Amino acid sequence: MRGRFIAFEGCEGAGKSTQMRLLSEKMTSAGIPHILTREPGGSHISEAIRRIILDGKNGDMTDECEALLYAAARAQHLADTVVPALERGETVLCDRYIFSSFAYQGYGRGLSLSFLKEINAFAAENYMPDLTLFLDIPSSHAFARKHGADPHDRMEQAGEAFHRRVYEGYKALLREYPHAIAAVDCSGTKYETSAKIAALLQSRGLFGG
Ligand code: TYD
Repeated sequence: MRGRFIAFEGCEGAGKSTQMRLLSEKMTSAGIPHILTREPGGSHISEAIRRIILDGKNGDMTDECEALLYAAARAQHLADTVVPALERGETVLCDRYIFSSFAYQGYGRGLSLSFLKEINAFAAENYMPDLTLFLDIPSSHAFARKHGADPHDRMEQAGEAFHRRVYEGYKALLREYPHAIAAVDCSGTKYETSAKIAALLQSRGLFGG
């Protein structure tokens, strides 16, 4: 049977990597074969593209170039890492995916959503996650949690207004794709959030079942 594909979304510092690690521990205990991967990156070529996109020295990059590089990294990551794991029957836990492009390049940068949908449909060959989890914590709280923006990370340097638009963008995407994206309230402890995520996946038959 083809594996499950679960993507994690949220603003910077929302706790995606912590939640992915906690879910991975639960899956290991339950004997569920899975991999953890991330975008942009998750394969040799895509990690090289990631370094170009995030490099703080590339401040002149156009929004169009940025959107195409994210889509290019996605195409290679799918081919190298995601699709082979799904075909082996493993669950794929992916840190960010297509909805990041809609939230950041669409709502954040202001590029047209129809352009983003088109390039991503081409890049991802319509591979969509079985479920996308949106870790819901406003961008201002998220940055406070991670003690401010990283001066070497081009995306983190995009400014507060940009990250507010990204958060509002995710909220709009939740309304547009209510079946594809589920919001997870992250106001409790990391263990409470982790329990909510496991229960949500179980209720959708995505935790083993
Ligand atoms: P990363 O350091 O992994 O950020 P985080 O820990 O918040 O996930 O860097 C990924 C950055 O790339 C992050 O700022 C979000 C951004 N991004 C996009 O703008 N579009 C995309 O399609 C993807 C996958 C990521």
